[in-house]
Amino acid sequence: MTDITTMKVNGTAIGKPASRVDGRLKVTGEARYAAEESLPGMAHGVLTGSPIAHGRIVRIDTSGALKLPGVLAIYTHENRGRLGEPPNDLMKGLIAESRLPLEDDEIHYAGQYVAMVVAETFEQARDAAARVKVHYEREEHAMTIEDATESYEPKQFMAEELQLARGDVAEALAKAAVSIDATYDTPCEHPNAMEPHASIAHWQDGTLTVRNATQFAYGDRTVLAGLFDLPPEKVRILAPFLGGMFGSKAATGGHTILAAVAARELQRPVKVILTREQVMTTVGYRSRTIQRFELGAKENGELTAMRHTTISQTSARDEFVEPCNITSRLLYKVPNYQGRHELRRVHTMLPSWMRGPGETPCQFAQESAMDELAVALKLDPIELRRRNDAEQNGHTGKPFSSKHLIECYDRGAERFGWYGRNPEPASMREGRLLLGMGMATATYPGYLMGASVSARLERTADGVRLLVRTAASDVGTGLYTVAAMTAAEVLALPFDRINVELGDSNLPFGAVAGGSNLTASVTPAVYQACAAIRSQLCVLAVSKGGPLAGEGGDCLDYAEGHVFLKDNPTRGVSYAELLDLAKREALDGQGHTDPVFGQNDRWAFQSFGAIFAEVTVDPTLHLVRLRRMTGVFDAGRIINPKTARSQMLGGMIFGAGMALLEEMVPDQAAGRFINADLGDYLVPVNADIPDIDVSFINEPDLEFNPIGCRGLGELGNPGTASAIANAVYHATGKRIRALPISPEKLMSAASAGGAQREEKN
Ligand code: MOS
Repeated sequence: MTDITTMKVNGTAIGKPASRVDGRLKVTGEARYAAEESLPGMAHGVLTGSPIAHGRIVRIDTSGALKLPGVLAIYTHENRGRLGEPPNDLMKGLIAESRLPLEDDEIHYAGQYVAMVVAETFEQARDAAARVKVHYEREEHAMTIEDATESYEPKQFMAEELQLARGDVAEALAKAAVSIDATYDTPCEHPNAMEPHASIAHWQDGTLTVRNATQFAYGDRTVLAGLFDLPPEKVRILAPFLGGMFGSKAATGGHTILAAVAARELQRPVKVILTREQVMTTVGYRSRTIQRFELGAKENGELTAMRHTTISQTSARDEFVEPCNITSRLLYKVPNYQGRHELRRVHTMLPSWMRGPGETPCQFAQESAMDELAVALKLDPIELRRRNDAEQNGHTGKPFSSKHLIECYDRGAERFGWYGRNPEPASMREGRLLLGMGMATATYPGYLMGASVSARLERTADGVRLLVRTAASDVGTGLYTVAAMTAAEVLALPFDRINVELGDSNLPFGAVAGGSNLTASVTPAVYQACAAIRSQLCVLAVSKGGPLAGEGGDCLDYAEGHVFLKDNPTRGVSYAELLDLAKREALDGQGHTDPVFGQNDRWAFQSFGAIFAEVTVDPTLHLVRLRRMTGVFDAGRIINPKTARSQMLGGMIFGAGMALLEEMVPDQAAGRFINADLGDYLVPVNADIPDIDVSFINEPDLEFNPIGCRGLGELGNPGTASAIANAVYHATGKRIRALPISPEKLMSAASAGGAQREEKN
């Protein structure tokens, strides 16, 4: 546990915009990503996947491929060998699919691995993989929620109930003065990290080392230890740099497992890199969601009832729930609430974690429904949200530890110029273009998933150097930098005297880089570890025989690697001299943060934001162009305003892609996603993205952790798609309830009267 009282932040480093400490390594190519490593004797594995969606392998013929030059081995379900039982737990380690790769002759989705060829070179392996002959027997498949024949009600997601109610929603809906009943549809989407998934497995003296593109080094270690019947300390995962993940690298993937299988048998390192098509068909995706929102309100806009019914999809063999109602249950003050969820089984890879799982599609639907309610009530959308502001999580009854959502609305409205908007749909123009402005609420829970940090201050030839270590990975978001900033804040050292080591399972525990938790988990532990070193420096300075003997610890200050008297800075000593005087080569400190999932005994922890978007719509071509966006966020204390802004920019751009472009297209006839590449799956490019204005409330949440920072990564994403959709409605009077908002949908939509107001007596 961390001690709140000791973590005073003066802002000497925390809160000052800092460039990434690993930035130079990245732009010079010195930062090595998993696939970039090359080990002596390394062989190359290439996976090949099923072309059919459902059925079984009747026969697999590898004889021709095996004779090709350079081919070392071909693994199939006939020779993969036995694997042990892995855990599947967010805190310990996640397995991508519970049916292990090459487990049996069953096929559950197109792209499912059926063989891996290992050869001396990548080209040889790829060539041979194309010549593995597999004969299949097809069975009926279902690619979409509509085609699915199997359906059930899931119970929980991360210990949160998914079927829940409070009050009497049916009665409240029946009695509501104004009600909205609308159904929204969000498509399958892919996280599309730039860096493809890749693993290099290597066995030496009974120890398995994997250089892996992973969000969770400890998780992979635990999973692989379970699969290969090893004690965890016999597995080492290295993941110092990642090129993005967005959820898709949280669980140990089949390619990683097969690389380890082959490396063990061949007794040489094996590298496996997924192709873009394999990334898009095997590592998980965001499920499609169909969400019905039934809202009941009084004439003054106060919500009296909300029923939120979600249908999402899961795979034939596993369960993943896109948990939409974990957000609707708590965002607004509504006494009568019901959340329901239904899952349908389809023949695709298992849907999985993708940036703001649950929150992101929920916020599109919920914030569109709120906009429809505002239109029905002829009430300003911000005013409607203000009247329904919740001081507590309405489901648990716990008050939010620190909530500044109203300030987000106010500041956002001012920065964006919201009140210059004519609320009438299709009333604003710029030349021949229709102009629209929309807004929405963003939200994401505060999670801590735990971290242990060790710090060591070492005497070096030219002074001192501080090492800060934890196993957690910097997935590209800036963990190296915030860890260095926190250490600099406590020990008053410049960044060039601080080395942060991350992404190595031999280091102290670091949780999954997911749930936007790492900054909030790691920085208090860094603070605590460095504070332990500072206490030792203090003792060495003031104790008998020390250079500041007889002074009180309270009288000391620390700057530029020196400890000195606050009221007489000329009396001081460098850390290096202090170590020399004490005949010490190094001082050590440890820090630790315990997990907290969205609440503790007293408080609900939740971050908030307000997103504003302006669009133009061409009335002839029905093309939507984003003109500008404003986001104001309340995520506690901001450690690094520079990388925090980057996170929110990324999240809002992610939301813009969701609103206007992104969609995986499952084809029932083909039995696969037919746009499994970045040519046909559209993501925003620079020309799609306008100026984005990001600002932070920056109020520390000291109930959450002693630094007062909640997570950031996922907060920029939920809310953005609905702000854009609401802007499109405002521009055109057309309510598009199915994403993405494409020209053809706008073209065929009836204009105006989109809001469904039902008058009740
Ligand atoms: Mo993120 S979807 O929590 O890895």
